[in-house]
Amino acid sequence: MLLGRRLAPTLRLVHEPSPLDRFRRFTVFFLAYTVGVILWGAWVRVSLSGDGCGESWPLCQGSLVPPDLETKTYVELAHRITSALTGFFAIAAVVWSRRLAPPGSLLRRSAMASLLFVVFEGLVGAAQVKLGYVAENPSEARGYWAALHLANTFFMLFSMTWLVRAAAGVKAPARLFPKDARLDWLGLGALVIVAAMGAVTALGDTVFPASSFAEGLAQELAHDAHLFVRLRVVHPVLAIATSVFLVARHVPRALGDEPGRGWDGLLVAVVLGQVVLGIVSVLLAAPAALQIAHLLLADVLFIAASATLLDRLHRLGEPASARVDVASEAAAR
Ligand code: HEM
Repeated sequence: MLLGRRLAPTLRLVHEPSPLDRFRRFTVFFLAYTVGVILWGAWVRVSLSGDGCGESWPLCQGSLVPPDLETKTYVELAHRITSALTGFFAIAAVVWSRRLAPPGSLLRRSAMASLLFVVFEGLVGAAQVKLGYVAENPSEARGYWAALHLANTFFMLFSMTWLVRAAAGVKAPARLFPKDARLDWLGLGALVIVAAMGAVTALGDTVFPASSFAEGLAQELAHDAHLFVRLRVVHPVLAIATSVFLVARHVPRALGDEPGRGWDGLLVAVVLGQVVLGIVSVLLAAPAALQIAHLLLADVLFIAASATLLDRLHRLGEPASARVDVASEAAAR
């Protein structure tokens, strides 16, 4: 009893999280929360709720409390509120990172990049609402906006992943584009294009739903098929080619003994899972639950690919001496 009381201050010291520990937990929460918001955004599309607030933004149906409360209004409103919160978290990350790390550090830069991509994500979403590119609108221009939105989603996940890794103590790599990492950047870029084309496929499935694989195929073969329907096949083809590339590149690393091979293993597992899910989704004519699961796996895959790349860049070059090891900086304060 007495011993316990004497040890208590020491134990508290041992278990008391440091400022950087708290920030690290916050960044993990921030990333996970953002993935949740992205999935809800997909639900807005799947449930045809994008016009739940009409064409007004940031107000809903022209007022703070919408007069017409249908289910789609709740769905759209929830997306607006949760994504606005992402913006607040992004601002908090920028302010907090400035207290923990010096100018030019990976921590500060990735926090700032996350904020910029969150803001752009919100602006693209707002533009889609204002232009009426929601619900069942089949305008071809909507496809470009959806692709842009998803590409930006991935850039946002990229910055947030680097933020999480920076908060875990990973230093800024000495060089961003060393020769040995060019193919890794290529893989990441290919994933962005695959995802952007996936957004167009998803749009086709939403605006021109098919009740079975056979009906979907008939839609694609029709001579007057809409652009979204004709493009449906592009995403799976690109995705399979990219998956083969990623598996060929990451399996040897996952089986090797380099540090960070856990990320490579995760990446390979998710790529294979994603391909299986994609094929099942095509065969079942893309049911809503599989669409959300497919997007979740796409997000996890991109997070794993971004983390793998940072770890690799870090190993490839000596860390820039001018840049600061955030963990030791914070510990010194
Ligand atoms: C590297 C692997 C893959 C990635 C990163 C990926 C990513 C994506 C993304 C981001 C979307 C858009 C989701 C949305 O906006 O809600 C999508 C949609 C879609 N993908 Fe993939 N995909 C991959 C592989 C595949 C494969 C191999 C197939 C089929 C053989 C496939 C079939 C589909 C279908 C049918 C859709 C539209 C319906 C839905 O949203 O699930 N995907 N994909």
